[in-house]
Amino acid sequence: MCGIVGYIGNKRAYPVLIKGLSRLEYRGYDSAGVALLADSEHLNIYKRKGKVQDLVDFIGENNTQGNIGIGHTRWATHGEPNDVNAHPHFSSDGNIALVHNGIIENYAILKKELINRGHIFKSETDTEVLIHLIEEIQHNTHTSLEEAVRLALNEVVGAYAIVILSKNEPDKLIAAKKSSPLVIGLGENEYYIASDATPIVEYTKNVVYLEDEQIAIINKDHGFRIINIANKEVNPYVQELEMQLEALEKGGYEHFMLKEIYEQPRAIHDSFRGRLNAKEGWVSLGGVKPYIKEIANADRIVIIACGTSWHAALVAEYYFEDLARIPVEVEYASEFRYRNPIIRKGDVVIAISQSGETADTLAALKMAKENGAFLFGIVNVVGSSISRITDSGSYTHAGPEIGVASTKAFTTQVTLLAMMAMMLGKERNTIAPKRFQKLLDEMEALPDKIETLLESNDYIETIAAQYKDATNALYLGRGTAFPIALEGALKLKEISYIHAEGYPAAEMKHGPIALIDENMPVFVIATEGENYEKVVSNIQEVKARKGKIIAIVTKGDTEVKAIADHTISIPSTDEVLVPILATIPFQLLSYHIAVMRGCNVDQPRNLAKSVTVE
Ligand code: F6R
Repeated sequence: MCGIVGYIGNKRAYPVLIKGLSRLEYRGYDSAGVALLADSEHLNIYKRKGKVQDLVDFIGENNTQGNIGIGHTRWATHGEPNDVNAHPHFSSDGNIALVHNGIIENYAILKKELINRGHIFKSETDTEVLIHLIEEIQHNTHTSLEEAVRLALNEVVGAYAIVILSKNEPDKLIAAKKSSPLVIGLGENEYYIASDATPIVEYTKNVVYLEDEQIAIINKDHGFRIINIANKEVNPYVQELEMQLEALEKGGYEHFMLKEIYEQPRAIHDSFRGRLNAKEGWVSLGGVKPYIKEIANADRIVIIACGTSWHAALVAEYYFEDLARIPVEVEYASEFRYRNPIIRKGDVVIAISQSGETADTLAALKMAKENGAFLFGIVNVVGSSISRITDSGSYTHAGPEIGVASTKAFTTQVTLLAMMAMMLGKERNTIAPKRFQKLLDEMEALPDKIETLLESNDYIETIAAQYKDATNALYLGRGTAFPIALEGALKLKEISYIHAEGYPAAEMKHGPIALIDENMPVFVIATEGENYEKVVSNIQEVKARKGKIIAIVTKGDTEVKAIADHTISIPSTDEVLVPILATIPFQLLSYHIAVMRGCNVDQPRNLAKSVTVE
C-alpha cells in the first residue's frame, strides 16, 4: 500500500527511482512522483496522477539530474488520486521533500495548529502535515534535518514509512518507519531505500530492515547510522536477501498473475521441500518442531488473517479439527482486534499473511501477544513485520507474488497448514498411521498433479469466453471446498469486476437460490468424497431453475458431467488436498475472464498488494 523508494550514491538517481517504482507499483498505482536533488540550489519535484509510465511521460525531457532522490507510488487514503495529492510533498519554502506510506491519525489537529502558524497546505493528504511540522521545527530550533524529523515523529500518531531530503543538507537522506515497512539496501558508497526488497535486489543483497520508531540517517560520504525516536543509537542488523531477480520479471508470460498460477507446482514443491519425506514417513516444520508440545496442547487455536489468507485460515480450521482434534476459531483480523476478544495464555494464535505487513493482522497479533498467547506466523515475505513479531513461524516459500490477486501464496499457505495439522495430529495421536502416510504420498504427488491440471488451460479459456459478459456469479462448495468457493468468488470479483458470491452449497436454498435464472453462472466444486452426493443434489436444484453449472469434478466423473453445462476435471487426491487443486481452475477462469473484459489483471482498480493501512 504505497511504495516508496530512495537513492543516494554516485549513480543518477532518476533511472534507479523509476525502475524501483515500477517494481513497487503492485503496492499502489493511483499516482506517482519523484523528487531529485540536482544540487543545493535545485530540488526538482514531479508528480502525476496515474501509473509510473504516466509520470515518465509527463517528465519527458525535464531536468532529472542528481544523485539523490526519492520516489512514491500511491494508493490513496486521504484525498482523491490527483496530481496535487500525489507524493512527494514539500515544505512551504520548497526546500524539503518527503514521501510517506501509512496514515498520520492525528493529522487534523496538527494541520489546524500549523495553519494557525501560517503554513499553507496544498493537498488534502494526511502526509502533508508531516513536512510542514518538520519545517516548523527546523524554523524554530535551527536544528539538523534528522533532529527535526525525530522531534516531529514524536508528535505524530499513526503509521509511517518516510524518506526525506533537503536542499539545505544535500548529502543526506533521512528514513524512518513505524508499522509500515522500510528496507535499506547497502551498496558500495551508495544506499537504496524501499518499501520492500524488490527494487533493491538487483543492486545489492545486503539489507537492513528498519524496526518501528527507528530513524536512519544516510550520508553519501559518511555511511549511515540508526537512532530511535528517543535518540538512542541502534546497531544495524545487516541481513542477506535470498530473493532472485528473475522472480520479479514476467518471464515471457503476459501477466504476473498467469506466471504465478503456472509457478504453483514449483512453489508448492518449495513449500514442502526438506519438510516432509513420504518414503521415510515424516513431516517436520522447523518453526513448529521446538514448540510442538505447546501448540499440540493449546486450549484452542485462533487463526487471524484477511482476504485470501482468511480463506486459507478457513481451510485450516477443517484441517486442525479433523486431523489434530484441536478447537479452532477463524477470525478476520480487522474484526478480532476491535472486539475485545477473550485471549489467554494457552491460546495459540496463528497469523496467515502473504505480505507479512497487513496492518490489521499485525495489530491483532500485537494485541494477542499482550494477552499472553503464543504467536505463530505463516508468511511469504521473508523478514516482514509479521515474521518478526511472532514467537515462531514457517515461511511459505512461494517466492515473490507480484500480481495483486493472490494465487500461489494461497495454495502454499494451504499446503503449509496441511503439513502443520499433520504434525499436530501425529503428536496428538489423532491421525491414523495409514491416513498420515497417504497424505504424505499425496502431498509429494501434488506438483505433478498441478502440472497435469494446468494442461487444461486452453479448455478453461473456452469456458471463460462463454461467461465473460456475466454480471453476477455464484460459487458453491461444501466442507473444505466452501472456502474455495469464497476464494473463487473473490478472485473473479477483484480482477474482472463481476459481482460474485461464495456460499456453502447447502446454504443456497436459504436465500441465494432466488437469484438463479438462465443468466446466472454457478461454479460448483463437486469432487469425489463424503459430500459428493449432496453437492450433486445442489447442482440439480440449480439446473431445475435453469442456472448454468460449471463444475470442478474429479477425473473420471460421469454423474455430474451428465447434468452440468461444463465440467473441469482435477486429478484424484486425498480430500484434504482437494482445496489446493480445486482452486486452480477458478484462478484460470477469473484470469481469462478478466483479460477478455480488458481489465488490468495485475493491478486491478482500487486494490493494492500490501494493505498497510487499517
Ligand atoms: C486477494 C488478496 C487479498 C489479500 C489480503 C491479505 O487476492 O490478495 O485479499 O489476501 O489483502 O493480504 P496478506 O496475505 O498479505 O496479509
